[in-house]
Amino acid sequence: MMRLDKLLSELTPVSRRELKQIIRAGRVTVNEICVVSGEQKVDPERDRICLDGTLLCYRRFRTFAMDKPTGVLTAARDRNQLTVLDLLPSEWKGLDLFPVGRLDKDTSGLLLLTNDGEFAHQVISPKYQVKKTYLARTEGTVTPEDQKAFAEGLILRDGLRTLPAVLEPCGRDRCFVTVEEGKYHQVRRMLSAVGKPVLELRRLSIGGLKIAELSFQNGFCELSSEQCDLVLPGYHSKMLKK
Ligand code: URA
Repeated sequence: MMRLDKLLSELTPVSRRELKQIIRAGRVTVNEICVVSGEQKVDPERDRICLDGTLLCYRRFRTFAMDKPTGVLTAARDRNQLTVLDLLPSEWKGLDLFPVGRLDKDTSGLLLLTNDGEFAHQVISPKYQVKKTYLARTEGTVTPEDQKAFAEGLILRDGLRTLPAVLEPCGRDRCFVTVEEGKYHQVRRMLSAVGKPVLELRRLSIGGLKIAELSFQNGFCELSSEQCDLVLPGYHSKMLKK
């Protein structure tokens, strides 16, 4: 629940002072009932809020980023182990968020949580070609031959063929890996396939959204529509209409 005037100031370009006058003038209704005080608490997800009879849009779907620590499961809940949803601040627990794809228990970095199934589907599906970039610390140094093998698409030990990926060395025992799919333990298995087992793995970006450019509070931050657009270009306008 939040104050009506706060919500209206988020939804409209009108100043707080003007909003006060607009509300006093009886131009705002909550569930078809005229309100006269901005202090009234409303539920933006459920209440029907109109200005001059026009229903105001609200982001029904919410997306958050987290800097996942190692040692935490990417799952909604688990009987024995700590999950990413256990770490979610209590004010967001009722939003029905779920993780967008998976990071292994031992992988850290950028993980998205959303209650928008279509957004999650598009981020995960290779069809939408959303690039995910990881920084890996490896045993051994990657070579130009390894880069070529990644660029061509690798055959993993179980015979699975990966889509082409980008491998960029970064010093003696580090490299960046960019993939557009998310098969089980994909980056670890790709680097193992070229004889460079992964010692540490961290996801740095999803599409154009970079973990280094986000301001986390207690490990989480809500993404604006513009930040969602960095992940999936063009998604913003669609979200606003929902
Ligand atoms: N690839 C992996 O091997 N692990 C992850 O957590 C993500 C991508």
